[in-house]
Amino acid sequence: MSNAELKSDQIERLVRHAIDARDQAYAPYSHFYVGAALMLFDDRILTGCNVENASYSLTLCAERVAAVNAVAAGYRHWRAIAVASVGGVAPCGACRQFLAEFQLDIPVIMVDVIDGAKRISKLSKLLPDAFDGSSLPSST
Ligand code: THU
Repeated sequence: MSNAELKSDQIERLVRHAIDARDQAYAPYSHFYVGAALMLFDDRILTGCNVENASYSLTLCAERVAAVNAVAAGYRHWRAIAVASVGGVAPCGACRQFLAEFQLDIPVIMVDVIDGAKRISKLSKLLPDAFDGSSLPSST
């Protein structure tokens, strides 16, 4: 689906959820708080926030928490994802790969919580020449 199929009220709603989800971020080490919100095709929204750990590498990014939340609820197909942070950062490389496992063709909305500025891209653009399961030898 293309960005054009995403209506502005859907974008606004999704962004609001990402901003609200950021309130739950557990980031005592970096103090960089991130919220993410995934919209399903029935317009329901599932969210995530970053969850850090004293063993730093165990940290989970907001996008992956949102994706796991959605998959665990039974939803592997998403209309769009919004990510809220100071600066409106783009998903990290690991999150791009993680999201691409389920849906490469998804709009990614990045919002700066300071001024509300939004950028809209697509995961396929953020992760060109993506590696996926089709590159692996068949197990049969
Ligand atoms: N973080 C995210 O939640 N998403 C990203 O795409 C980039 C980084 C989090 C991980 C860590 O808790 C903090 O931001 C600083 O890297």
